[in-house]
Amino acid sequence: MTKLIVALDVDSLAEAEKAVDKLGGKVEWFKVGKQLFTAEGPAIVAMLKKKGFKVFLDLKFHDIPNTVAQAVKSALSIGADMVNFHATGGSEMIRTAVEKNRPSYPDAELIAVTVLTSSGQSVLDELQIAGTPEDAVLRFAGLAKNAGADGVVCSALEIEALKKAYGSEFKVVVPGIRPKGSSVDDQKRIMTPKQASDLGADYIVVGRPIMKAADPVAAAEAVLAELSM
Ligand code: C5P
Repeated sequence: MTKLIVALDVDSLAEAEKAVDKLGGKVEWFKVGKQLFTAEGPAIVAMLKKKGFKVFLDLKFHDIPNTVAQAVKSALSIGADMVNFHATGGSEMIRTAVEKNRPSYPDAELIAVTVLTSSGQSVLDELQIAGTPEDAVLRFAGLAKNAGADGVVCSALEIEALKKAYGSEFKVVVPGIRPKGSSVDDQKRIMTPKQASDLGADYIVVGRPIMKAADPVAAAEAVLAELSM
């Protein structure tokens, strides 16, 4: 069953708490990214954990192995249930982060970012990364899996290939989700919740279609209804 993660892309703890209190009866997971975490820090995670929610701390770490391992440890110690790092940090960085933290946090989801959905062919060419974005996603996901990551963030278009290549246990976390009739915003490669769920997404990340809806609770309910179809 695909789980919904609502992206709390707001500026302040007060705004986040307002949204969470509205959606709380329906939604189990919230994602805190760089915008909110840089402004509010661990207090935002503490607020969510106190209210009983699961937290995806989307800080996309990329640094020397020891620093990433320690940052992941800090993220887990403040209560994050899912954390991520860039696959392009390499195997040693991922393996060090996983080996350092797995024993103390066996249930944590340690997720790699493959190729950002905003990075198209021209960015890969500029960086001299071989192949298409899809090739790179598969390659980076393989590297992440071999280094011990639990899964990857990817676009809905890559779910099928990833599950085929790396098995159903390897988690896929999918942003760029747009329920029928909602605004596309700046997302390019989108799918509906039902399409992503049918393809085997473990988690979908939905921000604006819920957070900016006239009725966020109804919007979240509609997404959840699609996931259980
Ligand atoms: O508002 P929207 O549903 O587009 O929000 C998607 C969320 O997922 C945002 O927080 C965005 O930063 C994040 N994300 C993404 N694409 C990625 C990785 C993360 O849209 N490749």
